[in-house]
Amino acid sequence: MDQKETFFNYITEGNITKGDYIPVGAAMLNGETITNALVKIPLKTLNRHGLIAGATGTGKTKSLQVLAENLSDKGIPVLLMDIKGDLSGLAQPSPGHAKIDERHAKIGLPFEPKSFPVELLTLSEQNGVRLRATVSEFGPVLLSRILDLSETQSGVVAVIFQYCDDNKLPILDLKDFKKILQYATQEGKEEFEDAYGRISTASTGAILRKIVELEQQGADLFFGETSFDVDDLLRIDNDGRGYINIIRLTDIQDRPKLFSTFMLSLLAEIYSTFPEQGDSDRPELVIFIDEAHLIFNEASKALLNQIESIVKLIRSKGVGLYFVTQNPTDVPEAVLGQLGLKIQHALRAFTANDRKAIKMTAQNYPDSEYYDTETVLTSLGIGEALVSALDEKGRPTPLAATMMRAPMSRMDILTESELNALNSQSKLVKKYNETIDRESAYELLNKKIEKAEAEEAKEKARKEKEALEKAEAKQRKSSSRRRSTAMNPVVKVLTSATFIRSVFGILNKVMKK
Ligand SMILES: Nc1ncnc2c1ncn2[C@@H]1O[C@H](COP(=O)(O)OP(=O)(O)OP(=O)(O)O)[C@@H](O)[C@H]1O
Ligand SMILES: [Mg+2]
Repeated sequence: MDQKETFFNYITEGNITKGDYIPVGAAMLNGETITNALVKIPLKTLNRHGLIAGATGTGKTKSLQVLAENLSDKGIPVLLMDIKGDLSGLAQPSPGHAKIDERHAKIGLPFEPKSFPVELLTLSEQNGVRLRATVSEFGPVLLSRILDLSETQSGVVAVIFQYCDDNKLPILDLKDFKKILQYATQEGKEEFEDAYGRISTASTGAILRKIVELEQQGADLFFGETSFDVDDLLRIDNDGRGYINIIRLTDIQDRPKLFSTFMLSLLAEIYSTFPEQGDSDRPELVIFIDEAHLIFNEASKALLNQIESIVKLIRSKGVGLYFVTQNPTDVPEAVLGQLGLKIQHALRAFTANDRKAIKMTAQNYPDSEYYDTETVLTSLGIGEALVSALDEKGRPTPLAATMMRAPMSRMDILTESELNALNSQSKLVKKYNETIDRESAYELLNKKIEKAEAEEAKEKARKEKEALEKAEAKQRKSSSRRRSTAMNPVVKVLTSATFIRSVFGILNKVMKK
C-alpha cells in the first residue's frame, strides 16, 4: 500500500463508522485531496462543543455555513450569531461557480445548490424578530455579573428583586429597575428599612451608573416585552429541515457588553427551559458564535466564570456551542478545554507572537504520524482546515487536513428586497415585534408614590384644616370674650344709646337747672 492508501484507511477507520454524520470534506495528504476519504463529524458528539479558528479570510465563516446547512438538512435547528452580516445568504441557493465544481470534483461529493429555511432575528431595530428578555427573567445573579457589581451592590440587587417578588411588582425593563432603585432610598426608604434593612444611596448610585453604561450600549432595546421564547429556536419546516435562526449583530461590534449580556441571558434561558437529554444520538440545537472574541475580550472575571459554567452545563440539554474566532487563544483556557470538534484553518506567521501562537495551537491537536501539524497550519489553502472531531465514543478522531466542501447556499448577503421579503413571511415577526409596556414596577411604584403623596396631601390638608379650625375656634373664643364683655348687662345698659341719651338728658336737665 502506498502512503496515500494507508492514510485513506487510517482516516476512514479512525473516523466514524456508525451513526449519522455530516461529511464536511475530503482528507488531504501532501497538499492533495484523497477523493472519497470523507471527513465526517458524528451527530452524536455535536453537543460536545467546538471551535472554528484561522487567520482572516481563510474560510472560517464558510465552514460555519457548511455545518449549519448540513445540520438543517438533518432536521437539527441552528442558531447563528452573524456579526459581519455575511450569513443571510443561507436563505438563497448558491449561483454556483467553476471553482466550486472543481473543489467538489476533488472531494468526491456532489454539489447541489439550494436554499435553507431561515429566520432573521435582531437585538436592535433592524429587520427581523425582536429578541427581548425582561429584567425579572434575567434574574439578580446574572444582572450583577453583567454589571460587574461588588458583593454589597449585588446584595442590594438581590434585595430589590426580593422586594419586587414580595410586592408583585414585575421588573420588565431598565426603566422599572431604575425606578425601584430610586424608590428604595427615597419614598420607600422606611418601608425597605423595616423589611430588609437599610440600603445605602452610595450602592444604589453605583448600580444606577452601571445601568446607564449598559443602556448606552443599547440594552434598553433588549430588556422588555414580548420576551423571546427559546422554544421558538427549535422549529422544523414542512420538509423536516431545521430552521437556521440568524441573529443579525452587525451593529454590535462596538457594544461588547450588550453582546455578552444577550449571549448569557440566552444560554441561561435555554439551560433552564430545555429538558435533560440523556444519551441522545443527535443534538437538539447547535449554536455558532462568529467573532467569538467579542464576548470574551471585555468580560470580567465573574462573567467569564459564568460563561464557563454555562458552557459546561448546557451540553446535557443537547445544545452544542461553536466558537468561531481567529486564534484559539482568543477563547479562555477553561472553555477551550471543553471543546470537542476543532476546525483549524490556516494561521499566518508574520510576527514572533504569531509563531508562538502557532506552536501553542499545534500542541493542542492530537499528534499525527502523517503531518507535521505546525507546517500544515501555515500551508493550508483557503477553504482547507485541520479537522479533529470526537468519535461516537467521545475519543478524538485522527487529525485530518481537509478540503472543506462549499456552501450550497449563497456565499453572500441578501439584498434589501430579499431581506424584506423574508421578514414579511415570518410568523415570529408578527408574534414578537409589537412593543408593549404593560403595567410594571415603574408604573406601579409611581402609582404607589402618587397614592402616598395624595394621602400625605390629604393628611396635610386635614391637619391644616384642623389647625385652621382650632385657630378659628380660639379666635372665636377671644372675640366672644370681648363681645361677651360688651354684652354684659351692666355694660350693655351703660353703653346703650338710650342710656347715654338718658344720661345726657339727665345731665342736660341738671345743667339747665
Ligand atoms: N469551503 C469553501 N468553499 C468555497 N470557497 C471558500 C470556502 N471557504 C472559503 N472560501 C472562500 O474564501 C473566502 C473567505 O472565506 P470566509 O469569509 O469564510 O473567511 P473568514 O475566515 O471567515 O474571514 P474573516 O476572518 O475575515 O471573517 C470566501 O468568500 C470564499 O470565496
Ligand atoms: Mg468570517
